[in-house]
Parts: sequence; C-alpha cells; structure tokens
Amino acid sequence: MDSIRIRGGKPLQGKIEISGAKNAALPLMVASLLTEETLTLSNLPHVADISTLITLLCQHGATAAMNGQSANGGSDGRSLSINAKSITNTEAPYDIVRKMRAGALVMGPLLARIGKARVSLPGGCAIGTRPMNLHISGLEQMGAKIAITGGYMEAEAPEGLKGAEIRFETVSVGATENLLMAASLAKGTTTLEIAAKEPEITDLVRLLCQMGAKIEGEGTDRLVIQGVDNLHGTHYRVMPDRIETGTYAIAAVITGGKIELTNTEAELIRAVLDALIETGAEIEETENGFIISRENGTIRGVDIMTLPYPGYPTDMQAQFMALMTVADGAAMITETIFENRFMHVPELARLGANITVHGHSALVRGVDHLVGAPVMATDLRASVSLVLAGLAAEGETVINRVYHLDRGYERLEEKLAACGADIERIHVS
Ligand code: EPZ
Repeated sequence: MDSIRIRGGKPLQGKIEISGAKNAALPLMVASLLTEETLTLSNLPHVADISTLITLLCQHGATAAMNGQSANGGSDGRSLSINAKSITNTEAPYDIVRKMRAGALVMGPLLARIGKARVSLPGGCAIGTRPMNLHISGLEQMGAKIAITGGYMEAEAPEGLKGAEIRFETVSVGATENLLMAASLAKGTTTLEIAAKEPEITDLVRLLCQMGAKIEGEGTDRLVIQGVDNLHGTHYRVMPDRIETGTYAIAAVITGGKIELTNTEAELIRAVLDALIETGAEIEETENGFIISRENGTIRGVDIMTLPYPGYPTDMQAQFMALMTVADGAAMITETIFENRFMHVPELARLGANITVHGHSALVRGVDHLVGAPVMATDLRASVSLVLAGLAAEGETVINRVYHLDRGYERLEEKLAACGADIERIHVS
C-alpha cells in the first residue's frame, strides 16, 4: 500500500490546474445508460472512482473508450465515450457498489430504460450510515416495486415509470440525481421538491437537456421534468472540481503561500472563499479561476457550519479544520450533513492539534505549530486534510492508506510539488 511523505513548512507558490469534478463526472457517466447512442464526456478526472464506475457500466453491457483507446487499457486520457446500446445485465453487484456508492445511481436509469434493476445496497461507510430510503421511496412513487432481499434492492417497473410529485424529506444529492435520470424517461411530468441544488446537479441537468430531456428549474430546489420517449447521445464537458479547488486554496493559506488556480470558477466555492477571506486570505479572481494568498499575518479562527449548497460544503469541512488547527484563536466547526464526519480529528491530534468534539461540533483551539507524524485516514476528504496539515507541520508526516486520496484527487503529489511542496509517494509492494 502506497504512502505519501511530506516534509512541511514550505510556503507554496505557483499554479495548479484544476481537474474535472469527480462528483459531477460519476452521475454524468451513469446517464449514458439512458440512451442507445454514444455519450462522450471531456475534462474527465483521472481518478480511481472513474475507473471503478467504468467497470460497473461495462458489466451492464456498455462499451467504453478513453481517448479512442480501450478504457481498461491504462490510458490516462481525459475524454471518455460510453455506448450503452444494449444493456445485457441489470445487476449492480455488492463488490463494486460497496466501494463506491455512486454505483447505486444506476438504479433509476436501469428502471427507466429496461424496467428492472437489481442493485446492491451500498452499506455504511466511514462518514455515516448513508441510507438509500429517499432513492427507494422516490422510485416507488414513480410506480416501481422495490423489495430488499439478500442485501440487494430488487426493483421492477414492468409498465414503465410514471411521473410523480416527489417532496424529499431532506436534501440529498444522490437521490436528486437518481430521480432526475429516472424521470427524464418516465411517462408524464415529475416534480422534485427540496431537490439538491449542488453545482453537480446543475451539470447533470444540463447534460440531460443536451441529450433531449425536458427539465425546468435548473439551479433551484424545485425541478420539473417532463418525460420523453428517447434520449440521444452528445458531447459534454465535465465542470471543474470545486472540492479540489477549495482543497488547493487551503493549501495556499495554510502554508502562507500564493497559488493561482486555473480551469475553475470562484463562484463554485463562494462559501469556502468567504470563510477563507475571514481567516485573512486574499483572493483575486482571474479569467479562468483565481489567485489565493496569505503572504503575511496570522490565520484568524473562523466558525463554519456545513450545509447544502450554497452553504459551506461538507466535503470541505476536514480541510478547513486542518487550517483552523494553526489559527490564532479558536473555531467552532459544525457538521450537519453526515453524522460521523470527524474521523480526521484523532489523526490531526497526532500532529499536535487541539480539538474537542461535542456531538456535531468540534471546537478547534489553534496551536502555534503542528509537528509531523505518521497518520492515516478512513475517507477521501479526511485523508486530504492530513496532507494539508502535513504541508504546514514541522518535520516529516507520512500519510498511509493513500488509496483514499487516489479515489478523488488526480496527481495530488505532482500538483503540490509543482508549487514547491516537499512531497513524494512511497511505493510499498
Ligand atoms: C454526495 O453524496 C457526494 N458524493 C458526497 O461526496 C457529498 O459529501 C454529499 O453528496 C453531500 O454533498 C458524490 O457525489 C459521489 P447525499 P451522496 O445523498 O449523494 C442522507 C466525497 O467526499 N440521506 O446528499 O451520497 C445521507 O445519509 C463524497 O466526494 C438519507 O437519509 O450524499 C446524508 O446524511 C463523500 N437518505 C445526507 O442525506 C437517502 O436516501 C446527504 O447525503 C440519501 C441520503
């Protein structure tokens, strides 16, 4: 298992090109199941979750080619064509879905197109129980019959899906995506209320409309989808990764450096940038991104609370906590989306951070400096928070279980090294 070794304390200076968004790319790829024609996605990040989803789509009968080459042939291309002309298998197996929950998004499209799907329940994960009830009840309201047996959701809609008025109990990105795709091919009109408004949802709405879907309410929490008989293939460019953007923005601030982020948009992470400005960072927007710096002065403690978009994103909570560990003062960090997303706290403490958790809030009292140590984490964002802390810490930090980082960050160590970080991957056979 690979590790990442960092010798911290260097202010980062330079430019980082942001990759396409993993969390947008995954549902866009699943949308390929809605049409017999070819869907081509560009600006695709080269991360492990994308390869896992290609494997899942191919075992449903789709064919995939990355930059003209076979997707499984090791190409690091950034353009992927998927053709799901014939769907030969409607089962999404446990082995894939347990590794990557986004696999469960195939349920809506398979039901809409084929009238049946057998999809493994993803199970819990490091950040919470993450149930599927909103996906299931939404599809049931559209006429699907779903039974849970042997750890699988066995779903059928022999007469096809029909439009429905669905009001979510809570905001769910995944359930909104699943039902948007299902409703695009359902009979009649579907209304989704209290729908998620995350930019990745808007990316999916735009792709589906480009494929021929009829959707109103883009960017709002009320989406109205008029089902159509067929969708067609198209070319679509995946949006920039807002969480990668925010992560490198914090790398600049925590190390007292200056980084230009390109191929991105400040607007996508306004809530994060507002919090960073309060800590003392400076931001200058450019034509295709922004420059962020903290070249002088200390980091001020700032409270944050995670909320659905446009609030502060849960996927940027661990990284902000890493920054607050070296703030001048204290910060209260409150997590409202997931019940167990503080797994990074004991690992940050190994580097010398002073953090007390009370229920859904963590009180971070800034310390003068962190000191490097071996650490590991149990999910993607927790792992990257340790990278950020390691960049600021004195001495050497070794982050184990790098496969979590590889799920969602493309060439992380290369991008940081190009800005002067002393960081390397250690291959352990
Ligand atoms: C997406 O997960 C992202 N994943 C997550 O990013 C992100 O943290 C999350 O949205 C919130 O923004 C992808 O896009 C692939 P949810 P998703 O359904 O869709 C509860 C990362 O680090 N809920 O919006 O699974 C759920 O338990 C990952 O890149 C139900 O109760 O999240 C949670 O508390 C981690 N019932 C809340 O809603 C359901 O049926 C929000 O979850 C569905 C969800």
